[in-house]
Amino acid sequence: MKRILVTGGMGYIGSHTVVDLIENNYEVIIVDNLSNSSKEVLNRINKITNHTPKFYEVDLCNYNDLENIFKEEKIDAVIHFAGLKAVGESVAKPLMYYQNNLISTLNLIDLMEKYDVNNLVFSSSATVYGDPVSVPIYENFDLHVTNPYGRTKLMIEDILRDYTNVHPKFNAALLRYFNPIGAHKSGLMGEDPNGIPNNLMPYITQVAIGKREFLGVFGNDYNTVDGTGVRDYIHVCDLAHGHVLVLDKLFTNSGLVTYNLGTGNGYSVLQVHAAMERACGFKIPYKILPRRDGDIATCYANCDKAEKEIGFKAQYTLDDMCRDSWNWQKNNPNGYKG
Ligand code: NAD
Ligand code: WQD
Repeated sequence: MKRILVTGGMGYIGSHTVVDLIENNYEVIIVDNLSNSSKEVLNRINKITNHTPKFYEVDLCNYNDLENIFKEEKIDAVIHFAGLKAVGESVAKPLMYYQNNLISTLNLIDLMEKYDVNNLVFSSSATVYGDPVSVPIYENFDLHVTNPYGRTKLMIEDILRDYTNVHPKFNAALLRYFNPIGAHKSGLMGEDPNGIPNNLMPYITQVAIGKREFLGVFGNDYNTVDGTGVRDYIHVCDLAHGHVLVLDKLFTNSGLVTYNLGTGNGYSVLQVHAAMERACGFKIPYKILPRRDGDIATCYANCDKAEKEIGFKAQYTLDDMCRDSWNWQKNNPNGYKG
């Protein structure tokens, strides 16, 4: 049985990936400092899979603590989700983002080399494409970043490109996620943001549950189907499965590979809002507000490369995503806090 170290495995995408890995007979070891997640996730993973993975509460920025895990565990591959991810916060606190995201990753790669662990999956983001010249976005498009969060993603991609160039044994997959939403179908796991959500889906579900008064729609004067921003929303379980699929590719000594993980479809804010009203069965109030700084009009992926090379194809529709997000929110009005 192959053993996978999942950094950030208690977080939103990590936890869904852990479930899929366990269901596909991988042995999972989680390392997370719980800076943006809850220990309750372990109970939920157990409820879904009947198995509790080994968990280390460790900050990846602490080299010695991380090394103790490598001393203790035999590891075949690492899936590296751990990182801070809020764009606005990264503008306000750039050093915190550079320190956390870069030092954690440098420590990890250094220890992988020291302990001869040669397979790494890295959580990159569509944010590395900036404002693309056209859509759909292909993996070979130019990369531009506009905020410290995005720069940490691009810097880590560059580090991994440089590193794999001179370490032929080392395999790395850069997975560029588009917009993950949705939740596990059981209603036991989902996205649990701290404070006021930055992202569209958790904001809408919090309006639907009555925690917030209305959804602010950031601009309706973009050159899109109805003037509101268009994104490629992907069900978190489809995204999670992409990680399981890419592991097989790495185990063939693939070197560095890069894949977009999205659905290939773009939906506007108002289309998502309408789909959420269908899922809930009632009206969700919204107001048009000015554009949000740094937002782009349209972003969606071409995912042919991932389909051809690793057999990745998103299965869930926008209505499925809204149904599952709503099911999670309704069953867990306060997230994992009970
Ligand atoms: P998340 O915040 O839910 O999960 C990240 C986890 O990493 C959290 O559990 C947090 O406690 C942990 N963590 C952070 N810094 C750590 C450190 N120094 N040591 C140990 N653990 C640490 O985020 P997510 O949405 O699950 O995202 C996972 C990854 O995917 C991130 O790297 C993020 O940048 C990337 N990503 C996310 C999105 C998105 O929209 N959610 C899109 C593209 C890329
Ligand atoms: C989606 C659309 C908003 C909230 C962000 C990061 C990106 C990646 C995914 C990590 C946009 C509109 C939103 C609201 C709104 N994360 N919106 N009202 O900005 O595409 O991507 O998350 O890598 O790097 O930037 O996602 O969910 O914030 O916004 O109208 O309250 O919804 O303007 O058009 P975004 P989002």
